[in-house]
Amino acid sequence: MADRQVPPRRAVARGVAGHTHAPARALRPTVAREPAQARPGGGAAQAGVRRRLLADPSGQRLGHSSPGRHQRHHRPPHDGPPHRPARRPGHAPRRGHARPYRRARAARHHRQPGGRRLDATRSGRRVAAAETLLRRRTDVTVPSAPFLLPPTPVTSVDAYRAIGGGSGLDQAARLGPAQTVKELTLSGLRGRGGGGFPTGRKWTTILNATGTHRFVVANGAEGEPATFKDRALMRANPYAIVEGVAIAAVTVGAREAFIALKASFGPENERVTQAVEEMQKAGLAGTVPITIVAGPEEYLFGEEKALLEVIEGRDPLPRLFPPYEHGLFATAPQSGWEAHEQEPGHTGAHQSNPTLVNNVETLANVPHVLARGAEWFRSMGTDESAGHVLVTVVGDVARSGVAEVELGTPLRDVIDEVGGGTRAGRQVKAVLSGIANPVVTAPDQLDVPVSYEGMAAAGSGLGAAGFAVFDDQACMVEVARAYSRFLYVESCNQCPACKLGSGVITTLLEKVETGRGTVRDVDTIGARLKTVTDGNRCYLPVQEQAVVSSLLRSFPEEFTEHLEGRLCPRPGRVVVPKLLDIVDGTARYDERHADKRPDWTYSG
Ligand SMILES: Cc1cc2nc3c(=O)[nH]c(=O)nc-3n(C[C@H](O)[C@H](O)[C@H](O)COP(=O)(O)O)c2cc1C
Ligand code: SF4
Repeated sequence: MADRQVPPRRAVARGVAGHTHAPARALRPTVAREPAQARPGGGAAQAGVRRRLLADPSGQRLGHSSPGRHQRHHRPPHDGPPHRPARRPGHAPRRGHARPYRRARAARHHRQPGGRRLDATRSGRRVAAAETLLRRRTDVTVPSAPFLLPPTPVTSVDAYRAIGGGSGLDQAARLGPAQTVKELTLSGLRGRGGGGFPTGRKWTTILNATGTHRFVVANGAEGEPATFKDRALMRANPYAIVEGVAIAAVTVGAREAFIALKASFGPENERVTQAVEEMQKAGLAGTVPITIVAGPEEYLFGEEKALLEVIEGRDPLPRLFPPYEHGLFATAPQSGWEAHEQEPGHTGAHQSNPTLVNNVETLANVPHVLARGAEWFRSMGTDESAGHVLVTVVGDVARSGVAEVELGTPLRDVIDEVGGGTRAGRQVKAVLSGIANPVVTAPDQLDVPVSYEGMAAAGSGLGAAGFAVFDDQACMVEVARAYSRFLYVESCNQCPACKLGSGVITTLLEKVETGRGTVRDVDTIGARLKTVTDGNRCYLPVQEQAVVSSLLRSFPEEFTEHLEGRLCPRPGRVVVPKLLDIVDGTARYDERHADKRPDWTYSG
């Protein structure tokens, strides 16, 4: 709107994926605020920095390997005594924080930027709530320094130590399990795998669970479309992930830990393997064995109940109960009515083996939280979304990329600064967060804060902070068809309403897209969207419901334009952005997915 007051933009704390304004201060005890910087341009220096992030230090690129049986590599635990490096000189006690977060946050929140007019929007009150949050946050223009993505990849355990690596594990040993989970709870850290579950609460559940066998799993499967941040992190600093795994294992009393990622993630497998070996030799990986699991290409591999199946050597078909109830190598019956032992000849007590599953980015935050303290972490972000988040921006933008941003940053700024905005002459029409959340429409919702509560208030969700941008030339009917097909193909067929329902929805969307659809077809799509989640074991059909319903709701005129034999006014080719790599701002998508059949075989 011409008369809309645009609030001052919040600077993005850039990591190595974009122009780096300030050196990363990984694992330092106090938070340093950098002065506000000019917004980055697209110069050669910036491209160089991005190249450093997105290329593996060995110079390799991710290739697409055909799906097949996954391999499992066992890494022996380090036999020697754990070596704890001395705390770095000058490491101030955490309580001596220069800027107590409550005071700083209160000051921030009581500022009145004023003058922002709320325009009528599609989502009415929910957007108004998001705008209120935005007004509270957009007056803050000083970014906190990046700490997750270092400006150059950390390539050795010595380099990791030099930036304070190991301090988090030290602190966990000093605090003990109960205080460690308390610190995590106080920090407000939430899971970065998509659900945003409070990490401290999850760890507490596992810690307090009965039974003698517990396990820890780091989820690096990263199958969410529009998401590359876990691979960027594994390339840039796998050591922080390994330290997070070690802290988790020692805290919940795990007997073994696993880091799971796709077999096709070549550079990441090398980096993580090297980091585990070096950290174990250096005594920085605790005493719990860490095993790397290289898994299959399927989207469901990243779903935590399917992930456990893969680690146990089976296909990625989600089991019934969540990992904290029925964990790895559990011998307890899942539903209580199995007619036979899962393990023939089993003797002794049945074990449910509560298992902690966390995303790799979540775990990479943990050493920082412990080394610098919960207050430091809460001083960044918003009330309900503390800290930084790794975002991916792809689609109809000038350049694709991954960057570290402070939670609460407006989505518009993320698109402009990480993605370089839209191409010349184009406008953002819509943004999809992964393939799991309702669409965010532009321009009305584009200032939504990138935070759990901000995205929820706009009727969407943060997910894994992977944003696919669609400009005004995109056909949203085609987007609906492509996204629905992806989920239909990836559905595992254990729950009839999910597989059959998403199949019917996809077929009818194809009909509509090609001008053969009727109003009745659209009604049938609506009806099947209501039942597609019936009897679901996992959230995949909930995602189908959320994404397709929101596109129908938000772009009814585009669906109408396609009905009764009319041709698409915006013909193009929408590819679901399942990422293989991002090199110098250019995203490479897995176009082979178009050949994947609903039975997980490939044509051609
Ligand atoms: C279909 C589906 C796919 C998922 N894929 C991933 C994934 O690739 N990586 C991931 O970390 N979480 C993924 N998740 C979420 C995990 O099930 C789980 O919630 C997460 O790993 C927990 O970690 P967090 O608490 O640190 O977020 C997926 C969930 C669903 C329903
Ligand atoms: S809900 Fe769908 S994807 Fe999930 S287990 Fe059932 S059939 Fe498989």
